[in-house]
Amino acid sequence: MKKHILTLPGDGVGPEIMTGAKSVLEKIADDFNHEFTFEDGLIGGAAYDASGTPLDDGTLSRAKNADAILLGAVGGPKWDTVEKTLRPEQGLLKIRKELGLFANLRPIKVFDRLIPASPLKETIVGGTDILFVRELTGGLYFGKPSERRDGGNSVVDTLAYTKEEIERIVEYGFQAAKLRGNKLTSVDKANVLESSRMWREIVDEKSAAYPEVEVEHALVDSTAMKLITNPNDFDVVVTENLFGDILSDEASVITGSIGLLPSASLNSSGFGLYEPVHGSAPDIAGKGIVNPLAMILSAAMMLKYSFHLSEEAEAIEAAVDSALKDGIHTSDLDFEGGRTVSTEEMIGTVISYIK
Ligand code: NAD
Ligand code: IPM
Ligand code: MN
Repeated sequence: MKKHILTLPGDGVGPEIMTGAKSVLEKIADDFNHEFTFEDGLIGGAAYDASGTPLDDGTLSRAKNADAILLGAVGGPKWDTVEKTLRPEQGLLKIRKELGLFANLRPIKVFDRLIPASPLKETIVGGTDILFVRELTGGLYFGKPSERRDGGNSVVDTLAYTKEEIERIVEYGFQAAKLRGNKLTSVDKANVLESSRMWREIVDEKSAAYPEVEVEHALVDSTAMKLITNPNDFDVVVTENLFGDILSDEASVITGSIGLLPSASLNSSGFGLYEPVHGSAPDIAGKGIVNPLAMILSAAMMLKYSFHLSEEAEAIEAAVDSALKDGIHTSDLDFEGGRTVSTEEMIGTVISYIK
């Protein structure tokens, strides 16, 4: 199979982890007889430094013409004082919006060997397998442009959704639940927010078409608690953009490290951008210690969701699992009998375990 992939390493640890994803994909191409071509582009602070904008039109059109996109991470203290519309994060929000990537899938799955690496009790963590379906192109991130009023004495951010935007993500949640454990938890703040009440109505309307799926409505605050006290109660979680952002970082604690969590952002035609859940980790950038597995597992999601290469995706996941089973890990993870290695060695180990 021939595929053209746009790689956007971005900032901080982005370039270090992107190297890992590319070399793993090259190994897969060799072993399974595919041809993957890569084209590097700029996004975030790196793009701002080069051209004064966090995502230029040329990169956007290359993104639209690629078969899929891999993205590292954007942002960092260097750009904290940049004008708000030109911040690195705006480049990421723009590419999501322009490509219509409304469905953000964030699987939270515990690797058995890493159960002791979580700060939570082993009895709580074991067996966790959750899929977050986070709405990604609406909600609090994309309301009317935020503004300061009254000479800087008041401020407005808006949480806006159209019915259609809620319907399509809720539909995605039901479909995902049907393919998994038939349970859908819809997370909102319906005791306060009108947008959440509309969200609940839509979930209830849709549930009639999915009688096999058990639906639970849950408030976001108590969900934050239950997620780490009873993670095994969750199967698919569907939620608003900002709620999903926060809950998925919290859920990373169950797995042992945020450096393990991949994600897929898909549009209605199935086109996808793949990136780790974590950010540019400026505190460890350039030290050769970042965990490359979230990025490598994002590449596996790309093979599965964009190219329908399930066997190849599973080969990567199995290699990651075997490396961890043998106790090889980066310094963000800590468990008895393991061996801490550098980013480069971790990448090399995964590649050598691909069968
Ligand atoms: P972060 O996810 O970058 O880092 C949080 C903590 O986790 C840090 O201590 C970091 O060292 C650690 N960490 C993260 N990924 C790791 C990995 N793969 N291996 C080992 N340790 C890892 O979040 P932050 O510090 O709040 O944000 C830093 C910057 O990243 C900000 O500018 C933010 O806007 C940006 N950000 C970007 C994305 C993205 O590009 N998708 C996501 C989140 C944050
Ligand atoms: C993420 C990040 C982004 C988000 C930021 C960098 C805009 O935190 O991908 O989770 O909030 O969506
Ligand atoms: Mn986030």
